[in-house]
Amino acid sequence: MNLEVTKNWTFLVTVERLILDIFFNGGVLTNQSIKTAVAAVAITMSSSLMAFENQMENAIKWLSQNISAHGTVPGTVLASPSRESPNYYYHWVRDAGLVMSTWLDVRNGDVNQSVRDRIDQNIEDYWRLTLRHQTQNLPAGLGEVKFEVNGDVYRGPWGRPQNDGPAIRALSLMKWRDNLLFRGSPLAENPELYASSLPANSAIKRDLEYVAHLFYKTEPNGKGRLLEIWERPGDFDVWEEVRGHHFFTELFQMYALRKGAELSESVGDHAQDFYNMVADKIESELNYHWDDNRGFIESTIYRDDGIDYKSGLDSAVIIAVLETQPYAYLGKGSWTVLDPRVQATAERLESAFKKLYPINQRLGAFRAALIGRYPEDTYDGVRTGSRGNPWFLCSHYMAEFYYQLTNELNTRGELQITAASRQFWNRFLPSDTLKLSSQDPQWKPLLKQLVFHGDSILNHLNQHVGPFGNMSEQIDRDTGNTGANQGGAQDLSWSYSSYIRAAQARSKVHNQ
Ligand code: NOJ
Ligand code: NOJ
Repeated sequence: MNLEVTKNWTFLVTVERLILDIFFNGGVLTNQSIKTAVAAVAITMSSSLMAFENQMENAIKWLSQNISAHGTVPGTVLASPSRESPNYYYHWVRDAGLVMSTWLDVRNGDVNQSVRDRIDQNIEDYWRLTLRHQTQNLPAGLGEVKFEVNGDVYRGPWGRPQNDGPAIRALSLMKWRDNLLFRGSPLAENPELYASSLPANSAIKRDLEYVAHLFYKTEPNGKGRLLEIWERPGDFDVWEEVRGHHFFTELFQMYALRKGAELSESVGDHAQDFYNMVADKIESELNYHWDDNRGFIESTIYRDDGIDYKSGLDSAVIIAVLETQPYAYLGKGSWTVLDPRVQATAERLESAFKKLYPINQRLGAFRAALIGRYPEDTYDGVRTGSRGNPWFLCSHYMAEFYYQLTNELNTRGELQITAASRQFWNRFLPSDTLKLSSQDPQWKPLLKQLVFHGDSILNHLNQHVGPFGNMSEQIDRDTGNTGANQGGAQDLSWSYSSYIRAAQARSKVHNQ
């Protein structure tokens, strides 16, 4: 943060206390147009104050230190440099795949050739390291969770398999491959990246085959069939705690197979029908996760092991929706930010965490609630059985949700409100609104409010970022402290990549 920003910030906090609490909490400013005017001023102030540029530079800088770090095999993405309490000094398949997908966006958004060269090298190394990871003797097959920094699999006890990993990794490598093709790079055609041969001998195809065969069984008579959900063993969730069938995991799997089908068709290897058949199955089963009575998407169904005290309301749902949004054109239109079920889940999460965390009791106009993994969480960043906290990454994704929603509404030019999404929209519109189109006078103010809400989450987080832009995993729910011993793993790669995503989505709003 530069000095000017800091000064402005102090000023802002004062103004906020003096006037703007009225905006959300008081009863004085009830007229919609005054509210809108205040929101417009607030947006202008807050966006300049957030110093996106500055924070973006920091996030990129700190993230780059975790990629191919000194003492690790090139291509290794450290979850965090923290080696004890907690020890996150590993390459997690999930974290690495998500981070590398963002890293490619950073590359493409940067005009500096040396930055581009460095990132190109990082991603190429990540792919070569993936080949090494995949071809070892793995205790849980390709659902193996994490690797040592020398490239060997981690063999200690862990919640395995975690089958989101291979789907995320395949999506990340397919995105890179598309980009290589677009740039005319010969690497795109490298047979170790994608080749039709079976048994699979390329990074992408190995993961696709693994994912597809979790849902498909070949009988002794040689005929194959799709397995029903109760016939398939569960696996561990994104938070590594519950074994069952997870919305997060399945959404990534469905889109990995859809994208794989598109790729397969483009190279003429005839796997597309198989991949699409399995994807159809997953897509229809995803509906089992919608709980109409409770009004949110239930994270895990058919739980068969691991912790048993979760309500099923979980940020993982929102994260998966946002991360797979670029592939939505390959699906049937469900599970996007425009899906009322997704909106309902976002609202339920926000209101649950708002009540739960003391730090969310002192909000004011410029701060919206910080978000954790799920309300019943007891993991404090070092041990389970303690108290869960807000997470940087969960809060970043919630902010991104509002930016992506704004962008999608802008494109669509129309909003439909259903019984499921009623509570979500009641916060922004009169409660009898059923439909709104871009011609309506309420349309622009609505979009402004959505952006403002996203900004309010980032503003709140901004107060807990370290003086040099550092982000750990968590933020203490009472004190707001982060950093060593208070916020779990320091410099968590995923905290930075989720920040970069939110800021990128925010800048797309600007450009409209
Ligand atoms: C328990 C946490 O809840 C989980 O997310 C984490 O991965 C493991 N402990 C290991 O740190
Ligand atoms: C714990 C998180 O729950 C999990 O999602 C993540 O993969 C690891 N930490 C590593 O960051």
